[in-house]
Amino acid sequence: MRIAVTGGAGFIGSHTVNHLVNAGDEVLVIDDLSAGHVRPPAPVRWLKADIFSEQAAEVLHRFKPQAVIHLAARVDVEASWECPQDDLRVNVEGTLRLLELCRSLGQVRFVFASSASVYGANPGVVREHEPPAPCSPYGLGKLTAERYLELWGSRWEIPWLALRYANVYGPYRKDSYPKGVCRVFARRIQNRLPLVINGDGSQSRDFVSVYDVARANYLACHSKLSGEIMNISSGCGHTILEVAEHLKLASARQPEIVFIPEGEVGVAKSALSPDKAKALLGWEPEWSLQEGLFDLWTKVDHEPLAVSGVCAG
Ligand SMILES: NC(=O)c1ccc[n+]([C@@H]2O[C@H](COP(=O)([O-])OP(=O)(O)OC[C@H]3O[C@@H](n4cnc5c(N)ncnc54)[C@H](O)[C@@H]3O)[C@@H](O)[C@H]2O)c1
Repeated sequence: MRIAVTGGAGFIGSHTVNHLVNAGDEVLVIDDLSAGHVRPPAPVRWLKADIFSEQAAEVLHRFKPQAVIHLAARVDVEASWECPQDDLRVNVEGTLRLLELCRSLGQVRFVFASSASVYGANPGVVREHEPPAPCSPYGLGKLTAERYLELWGSRWEIPWLALRYANVYGPYRKDSYPKGVCRVFARRIQNRLPLVINGDGSQSRDFVSVYDVARANYLACHSKLSGEIMNISSGCGHTILEVAEHLKLASARQPEIVFIPEGEVGVAKSALSPDKAKALLGWEPEWSLQEGLFDLWTKVDHEPLAVSGVCAG
């Protein structure tokens, strides 16, 4: 397939591009490098451009994709409170912009990177039919973008799937990105710094390996399904203390753990059922948290090739 990946130089994007290329797909990456830093592998055409630019539209029209994986976004939840207009513009209007481009291209499958944040603080193992209750501008934007997909999909017959990723972890996240407990802990262990935990570390998250997410994106492009929203998740919650323990084992080091009782803990428990993705897409996670964190530790020093120039798509 010919597949365009917006945000393809970012964390999930770069792993997705690798998966697509290894599976034999022809790939175009569009990324403005506002956060991304990974150079796409050799056979990939790529363009450094904002998704709103005319250049991005022209290159997409020339490439004639059969599918678009739309990952380009502002991804920092805290920043979405500080600058909600920016989040709205890139995450909501940007998705609308891509949908309009797909409409003009005709019959392009649209795979959208949504998020567990649409559920808000929902306890238990959350399924897709449960009412969304986002508690940040970021989550609200992802939910709104999903609504545009539903509307544009039915009105203009654009085949689409929305994948609600849980907490994605793995190698090659940009070091300057301050979030992502797995990556942050791995770096701190490497730098022999203490691990800082807000609260008592019993808050749990649904962690899913970036390799599994890349495979889900691939399957979503190659599927014939349309109009479905699916969790891409492990189905279980793991505590922040467990993450620390797995990384201690993987690194064979004994980092000090510092608890900040008054720190921001966030949602107490979060887990998303992956059953729908298994039933409809044939996807289920292959990486356990332990395996994934071991892999992350072994690659914590391996930075991907950084982007150094601009290539015309
Ligand atoms: N990482 C997670 O845990 C997670 C969880 C749920 C959903 N998501 C979603 O997955 C997608 C990818 O996230 P990520 O973690 O890889 O983040 P990332 O910041 O590494 O990737 C986003 C990419 O989009 C690019 N970009 C941003 N604005 C752009 C624009 N206007 N034009 C072109 N490119 C632009 C950035 O340069 C970056 O390379 C996002 O849509 C995010 O909301 C991520």
